[in-house]
Amino acid sequence: MSNKRFYVTTPIYYPSDKLHIGHALTTTMADTLSRYKKMLGYDTFFLTGSDEHGQKIEKTAAQAGMKPIEYTDKIVAGFQELWKKLDIEYDDFIRTTEKRHYETVSKIFTKIYEKGDIYKSEYEGFYCTPCESFFTERQLEEGHCPDCGRKVDVVREESYFFKMSKYADDLIAYIESHPHFIRPETRKNEMLSFLKSGLEDLCVSRTTFDWGIPVPIDDKHVIYVWFDALTNYLTALDYLNEGELYQKFWQENDEIVHLVGKDIVRFHTIIWPIILMAADIKIPDMVFAHGWLLLDGGKMSKSKGNVVDPTALIDKYGSDAIRYFLLREMPFGEDGYYSEEALVLRTNTDLANDYGNLLSRTTSMIDKFCGGIIPEKTSEDDVDKEFADLAGDIKEAYVANMDNLQFGKALQEVWKIIARGNKYIEESAPWALAKDESKAEKLNAVMYNLAETIRVATIYLSPFMPATPAKVFDQLGIDELGLKSWDSIDFGAAIQGIKVRRKDPIFPRIDAKEALKVEETQEPKKESKKDSKKDSKKESKKEAAEEGANLISFDEFFKTELKVAEIVAAEKVEKTDKLLKLSLQVGEEKRIIVAGIALHYAPDELIGKKIIIVANLKPAKLRGIESQGMLLAASTSDKKQMTLLTVDSDIPSGSKVG
Ligand code: ME8
Ligand code: MG
Repeated sequence: MSNKRFYVTTPIYYPSDKLHIGHALTTTMADTLSRYKKMLGYDTFFLTGSDEHGQKIEKTAAQAGMKPIEYTDKIVAGFQELWKKLDIEYDDFIRTTEKRHYETVSKIFTKIYEKGDIYKSEYEGFYCTPCESFFTERQLEEGHCPDCGRKVDVVREESYFFKMSKYADDLIAYIESHPHFIRPETRKNEMLSFLKSGLEDLCVSRTTFDWGIPVPIDDKHVIYVWFDALTNYLTALDYLNEGELYQKFWQENDEIVHLVGKDIVRFHTIIWPIILMAADIKIPDMVFAHGWLLLDGGKMSKSKGNVVDPTALIDKYGSDAIRYFLLREMPFGEDGYYSEEALVLRTNTDLANDYGNLLSRTTSMIDKFCGGIIPEKTSEDDVDKEFADLAGDIKEAYVANMDNLQFGKALQEVWKIIARGNKYIEESAPWALAKDESKAEKLNAVMYNLAETIRVATIYLSPFMPATPAKVFDQLGIDELGLKSWDSIDFGAAIQGIKVRRKDPIFPRIDAKEALKVEETQEPKKESKKDSKKDSKKESKKEAAEEGANLISFDEFFKTELKVAEIVAAEKVEKTDKLLKLSLQVGEEKRIIVAGIALHYAPDELIGKKIIIVANLKPAKLRGIESQGMLLAASTSDKKQMTLLTVDSDIPSGSKVG
C-alpha cells in the first residue's frame, strides 16, 4: 500500500519588503508540520513562495526606481536566504511571475469564463492597495479599510466579475458539513455570518495598471491579484497538465492544509473555494488561521518602525531557539507576544536548563558511574516504573496535539518528561547510589531511563528543531538510524551498551544582560547616573561594614525564620507582568506567596522546586492576594538575571534553614 499523503502551504508573501518574524512564524509552523508528517511516514509536499503582482508591488518598485521584476527578484532572493537560515525544508518555492503560473491562472480563468461565471461590467467602489482588497461603501469603517484601517482609493473602471453569489449557498453547506475546513472555530463562525449576510460578485480584473497576468480574452485587463495568488497552490502541483503531483497531492490526497494568518482567512475560505467549485476542482481539507504575533507595543508595522528582523535573531541565538520560541509561545489560534527578553528567558529555562542540563547531567553521570556506557536495566522499582511509564504515555497526547496544530501543547507534553527527568535525578540521587555497591541495579535502571528519556524526547522534538537532534544523538552515542526514528518512539529501546560522547552544552546559557545590552545603551544618561549613585552607595556600605557598624549578631540573624518550602502550584497574577502566585507546602502547612519572579520563571517549571522562604514575615496584601512570607532569590543589581535559592539535595519541606 502506498503511503498517506499530506500537502501543506504557507501564504505566498508579498515581496514589497523584507520578511519579519510574523512571516517566520507561519513558515515555521508549516515546516514543522511537514517534518512531523514525514516523520510519521507520510508522503509530504510543502509549498511556499512569493506573490509578486498587483498595484502595491508596482508602486513600491517604482518608488525604488526599478522595474517590478527587478525589484521582486532582489527581495525574493532575500526570502529564500531567510528560509535557508531558518532550516525551512520546502519542496517547492513558487513565484507568481513564473511562466507555469501564468499558464495555470489563464487556464482556470478561461475555464470559469467559458462556463459563464465570469462576465464583463463596470466596477464602482473602493480599493485598499496594501490589502489588495475591494470594498463597498457599506463595508468601510469610517471611510477606511475595515481590515487595516488605512485610506482607500475610489475606483471606477470596466471590469470582469466573478459570479460568487451563485455559489454562496453551496459554500455555506460545504462549511457546515466540513467542521474542520475553517479552523479555529471562531474564524469559522465569522466566515459563516459573513456569508449569510449576502455575497456579492467579485471584481476579478483591473485596467488602471499593468503589473499582472493579462485576462486571456481581453489583454486590456490584468487579473485581480488575489485570483492570481490563490491559484499558486495548484500551479505548483502541475494542475496545468494535471500531472503526477496534482494527482498525488490534490486529487488523491488524504489531507490538504493551508496555513494562513487571520488577516487573510476570508480570501482562503470564501474566494478560493468558490474559484475551485466554479472550476470543478476539489476543495482543500483545512484552512488554519493562526493569530498575530504582537510586540509589547502592539502590532508590528513598518510605519511604527518596530519590525523584528528574523535574520539578526537567527545570527544571535540560532535557528532552533527561534523556531522553538515561536511555536512554544504562540497560543492556539490566538495572538501571542514576542519580545527579546521572552525569547532569552525561554531559551535559558527550557533549552539550556531543562533539556540541555538533562543531557549534560546524564552523560556526565554515565561517564562517572558507568564508565561511559549506557547500562542495561535489569530491574526497576516503583519510582523507575512510574517514570518510564510517563515517558511512554505522552505519545498519544503528542500526536493528538500535533494533528490539531496545537504546537505549544505538544511541546508541553514533551517537557513533562524532560522536567520529570530532572526531578527523577534529584529523587533517585545517583551520586549516593554509586557509593553503595548493593544499589548497582537501581543505579543502572536510573541511568538507562534517563538516557532513554532524552532519546525519546529528541525524536519528538525533531520536527521543531531540525539542527539539535544530530547534536544530542551524537552526545548519547546513538548512530543507528533506527534509534533516531519514529519507529523507535516507544520507550524501552535497546540502547544499553552504547558509549556516550559527552561534549559542550547543546544550548549554552545566554547571558541575558549581555544579550539585551542594546536596550540599555538607549538610555545612557539615566543608566550612568544610577550606576554612579549605586557605586557610591556600595562604597559607603563597604566602609561601614569594615568598621563593623553594619554587622549583625547571631541572635539578630536568627530572628529570621528560614524554611524549606515545596512549590505545589504556580500561576500568573492577572494583569501583572512580574508577579506569580505560588502555593507552597511547608511541612504540614500550606502557604501562599506572591513573588516578583514571572520574568524569570514560567509557572510550570516551578512545580516541585524546593525553595527557601522567610516564614515569620508579617503577611502583606499584593494585588488583593495575601502573601504569607517571602522567598529568597539571588539577582544581579540590574535585576536582569535572577535565580531562586533551592536546596542541593532532597530534604522534606518544612526543614529549618540556618
Ligand atoms: O497577505 N503575526 O502576504 P503578506 C503572525 N500575499 N503572522 C503574520 C504577521 C504577524 N504579525 N504578519 C504577517 C499576503 N504574518 C498575500 C498572501 S496567499 C495566496 C497570498 C503572516 O506578505 C501571516 O501568515 O501580507 C499572514 O497571513 C501573512 O504573513 C501575510 O503576508
Ligand atoms: Mg499583509
